[in-house]
Amino acid sequence: TSNQMWGGRFAAGPDAIMEAINASIGFDRRMAAQDIAGSRAHAAMLAATGIVSDSDAEAMREGLFTVLSEIEAGEFRFSTALEDIHMNVEARLKEIIGAPAGRLHTGRSRNDQVATDFRLWVRDQLDAAEQALRALMRALVAQAEAGAEWVMPGFTHLQTAQPVTWGHHMMAYVEMFGRDLSRVRDARARMNECPLGAAALAGTSFPIDREMTARELGFDAPCANSLDAVSDRDFALEFLSVAGICAMHLSRFAEELVIWSSAQFRFVALSDRFSTGSSIMPQKKNPDAAELIRAKVGRIFGANVALMMVMKGLPLAYSKDMQEDKEQVFDAADNLMLALAAMEGMVRDMVAQKANLEAAAGAGFSTATDLADWLVRVLDMPFREAHHVTGALVARAEARGCDLPDLSLAEMQAVHGEIDASVYDVLGVHNSVASRMSYGGTAPAQVRMQAARWKERLG
Ligand code: ARG
Repeated sequence: TSNQMWGGRFAAGPDAIMEAINASIGFDRRMAAQDIAGSRAHAAMLAATGIVSDSDAEAMREGLFTVLSEIEAGEFRFSTALEDIHMNVEARLKEIIGAPAGRLHTGRSRNDQVATDFRLWVRDQLDAAEQALRALMRALVAQAEAGAEWVMPGFTHLQTAQPVTWGHHMMAYVEMFGRDLSRVRDARARMNECPLGAAALAGTSFPIDREMTARELGFDAPCANSLDAVSDRDFALEFLSVAGICAMHLSRFAEELVIWSSAQFRFVALSDRFSTGSSIMPQKKNPDAAELIRAKVGRIFGANVALMMVMKGLPLAYSKDMQEDKEQVFDAADNLMLALAAMEGMVRDMVAQKANLEAAAGAGFSTATDLADWLVRVLDMPFREAHHVTGALVARAEARGCDLPDLSLAEMQAVHGEIDASVYDVLGVHNSVASRMSYGGTAPAQVRMQAARWKERLG
């Protein structure tokens, strides 16, 4: 038998394979709440404009509410023959309220319906991402405040560079996640226009009120062009891009946690709650959550590329290719939320190993730049010469197998005669970080300022 929604001109129903490739109900059932909210708003508008009677609209709105409760209670029987969430809901509405259900689709198409549902779904995810980012940032700020003065090595090329503070390192990620947050907000503001009422592609001859449905569904305005409204998925792509960048930030931090928690570094102890053991090696405590967070960026970025490829050659307006948008976005959203939540938990629970951080901070001639700066400041040496002299002192320490502060004054003076004992003041890691008071620098006072500013912004 042909389809009850569109089978008028069909003599035969679809082949089983046709049904299998065509159906989206397996995944778009996740938009049930959005679909029903959209339909309820549409029904109210149809009544307000006199397109359907108040009593029909009331029946539709009540019936849709019943359908939603059935879905939420897990009592709804989804049908593949009915293709997608839109037709599943409408068919059930017909069973519940009878004839008035047939008037719901007046002045509307599944094309504007799916575009509306999907925008509502993505908007919810952006809101959830905002909350998750805020929670993670609060956890990072708490770590930064606790360890504003703790010293650790700062790296370039993963080689010891200059000492930094633990708090400074934590706040670096707060800045990154803060930009992710602002991207989330930008994306939300840009996508918050309502496609409903664009109908199939050209608009409708019914006197609909698009302002009303837009308002009802929390959109700032109706989409201004009906062709654009049903054809574009840039809001989904923007979500995936924002998610991809955020996942990339999460991945870098996760990589650091993997390194830091190793026996060779021992910078942090991760909690048992976010680690796993080995079934053969009894000593193992593995940072699996961090590793999985590190990996998530792959599928999230993959989703972005996949949808970009789906969209890139499509002529206006709707093509069924666009049905492939949802699984990518659903998967990316699920995994972004998991990664954000897991990272927040790890950050809350992790314990910085202060003594190990401090010991590592002084290793690898990390205060060589401080020594060169001292030569410039105290002996008025040109920086290039100071760089060279310091290099010679490093070579000497390396040959002796000691650190810079372990060189005697005589050894230093053998390299440059004017060096005096006050040089030792700048060779300590605490003095080194305290001296970096430039705006945004690693000095504890600067870190506390950064942390206080974010704390106020995060509320
Ligand atoms: N399931 C479809 C989708 O996700 C709904 C829109 C169908 N529209 C159509 N003209 N076949 O894209």
